[in-house]
Amino acid sequence: MLLRGLSRLVAARRSCWAAGRRPLGSGSQVICEQTLVAVKPDGVQRRLVGEIIQRFEKRGFQLVGLKLVQVPREVLSAHYHDLEEKTFYPALIDYMSSGPIVAMVWEGQDVVKVSRTMVGATSPTQALPGTIRGDLCVDISRNAVHASDSVEVAQKEIALWFHHSELVQWKCCAHSNIYNV
Ligand code: TYD
Repeated sequence: MLLRGLSRLVAARRSCWAAGRRPLGSGSQVICEQTLVAVKPDGVQRRLVGEIIQRFEKRGFQLVGLKLVQVPREVLSAHYHDLEEKTFYPALIDYMSSGPIVAMVWEGQDVVKVSRTMVGATSPTQALPGTIRGDLCVDISRNAVHASDSVEVAQKEIALWFHHSELVQWKCCAHSNIYNV
């Protein structure tokens, strides 16, 4: 048990270094996990960008990448390749390429899992109140926001949407008020 925890910690610290990031924290906390969050065209059109950013900032996560983009169809096809066979796929690609998207990389402890919880279920009708989709959306095809669904997928999506030089490492002066480090 102890050994498994230790080897998970060593692996997490190694993956920070491998990604060119210094692992912060000690003990069981390794704080360098990153995720891709994107405000979709409906969220941008409905002026929800500020509200969505604020939720992640207030939670205590750190913004390390941010841009407004009209995403090329090739990038969207790669991003959603596992949904290719779904009936809604063509409409999804058309829709996601129809207008600007705000793409972000957020960093923090368990940021992938926590972001998915904050975003809520894919269908807004199933999303709980308090989640972004549960508070701000009604239709599954206009669910305002994307968040990566696993650490491996997050790493792939960040590499697909961002060039390494677009990510900024910065020291957060509130760090010791957010983490016990
Ligand atoms: P998916 O990856 O299953 O969900 P999530 O965004 O929660 O990870 O689906 C990607 C997007 O495809 C989803 O956010 C909205 C759209 N979509 C539809 O338009 N209709 C559907 O029936 C489903 C399941 C998804």
